Amino acid sequence: LFKKSLTALTVCAAVAGATVAQAAPVELKFAHVVAENTPKGQMALKFRDLVAERLAGKVEVKVFPNSQLFGDNKVLEAMLLGDVQMAAPSLSKFQKYTESLQIFDLPFLFKDMAAVERFQNGPTGQAMLSSMKNKGLIGLGFLHNGMKQLSANDPLRTPADASGKKFRIQTSDVLQAQFEAVNAVPLKKPFSEVFTLLQTKAIDGQENTWSNIYSKKFFEVQPYITESNHGVLDYLIVTSTEFWMGLDDDVRAELKKALDEAIAYGNNIAAEKGDSDRQAIIDSGRSEVLALSDAERQQWVEAMKPVWAQFASQIGQENIDAAVAANK
Ligand code: LMR
Repeated sequence: LFKKSLTALTVCAAVAGATVAQAAPVELKFAHVVAENTPKGQMALKFRDLVAERLAGKVEVKVFPNSQLFGDNKVLEAMLLGDVQMAAPSLSKFQKYTESLQIFDLPFLFKDMAAVERFQNGPTGQAMLSSMKNKGLIGLGFLHNGMKQLSANDPLRTPADASGKKFRIQTSDVLQAQFEAVNAVPLKKPFSEVFTLLQTKAIDGQENTWSNIYSKKFFEVQPYITESNHGVLDYLIVTSTEFWMGLDDDVRAELKKALDEAIAYGNNIAAEKGDSDRQAIIDSGRSEVLALSDAERQQWVEAMKPVWAQFASQIGQENIDAAVAANK
């Protein structure tokens, strides 16, 4: 009998040991709205793979692209409820949580992506990562997509061409003001609806990066794309304070390292796709890419730039000054 119970005890101990060793890995759901063949789509998959390599059994990343899990208008609420742990919404989609990120929507603020990068890596940009701490959200890093272009049913060469036309915008009051500045009609709509809105001609146009216009086939239903480079579309990788601070220190450090590597990987893809997806659209013959003369571009600048003053008190003039300084 004694021997029997000893065996039973050993078995129990072994089972208990196995249970500890096999504690379920932390599940990290990463939700986004774009296709997989985009800078953000590729960055998320790289992050998943790095974590699988380095934190096997401890953390498992599951990526949900194409608004499968949440659209960008819901994802931050869902994050605060613990239904998703990581996302990378465009910087234009945080206005409910912080005013400071609205700076990235100001038209013609950054002259190119190198300037955006300098600003994000500088003290003002870095401080913005923690601008939503009091709301329970932490920015873990910026990720590039690129400069935005204007697509439409008709050729847009001057601001007058946009007058009266309906444009889909992201949920941002700055972007709304930008289109109102050229007497256009902006409509805040989720990314997942843009293709259908364009296809059915419920709207006339939209603004987006080359990789989004290509991967979501907007170019197939927009005969003209004006190469305006009038603004930036970048991302904030975001998580909830509760999730992030609840991780073991070593796991959190390893996740951050994997994330930084995935961001660098995604940024390279963003730079590449800015050229290759633009070229693929031209090669398709479905959409004509219009270049602006300096004089035409200047008209857009003059029409849209008053938006800066409209939002200076919300965004902070000193932040705008820092962004302008990053152009040099
Ligand atoms: C958009 O809504 O147009 C973009 O923010 C989509 C994205 O995530 O790139």
